[in-house]
Amino acid sequence: MAKVVFVHPDGRREEHEGSDGQSVMRVATSNLVSGIIGECGGDLSCATCHVFVDAAWAQSVPTKTAAEDDMLAVTAEEPTEFSRLCCQIYCGRETDGIVIHIPRIQR
Ligand code: FES
Repeated sequence: MAKVVFVHPDGRREEHEGSDGQSVMRVATSNLVSGIIGECGGDLSCATCHVFVDAAWAQSVPTKTAAEDDMLAVTAEEPTEFSRLCCQIYCGRETDGIVIHIPRIQR
């Protein structure tokens, strides 16, 4: 199990547990975290799971693939250097306690 901390645009925080190998998107949608939609189910074809990984955790997530990078070009909110699609971030020892900032606009 790994903890994921979601930070809403208004600063509100909520924490949820994910099982090892579960995507952060699935942790969010299964716990009804508002602002993360995950419309395509993790197929890298919707970009409605756009998040900003907290700067302190940026080195703990795997490098983006070219396909993820392409989808980050069509996010509703302007991407930053910390933008990721959270269907591509997985729970595990490396990401236990990861802090994820939710964008104001998701689609
Ligand atoms: S859930 Fe669609 S791209 Fe992540």
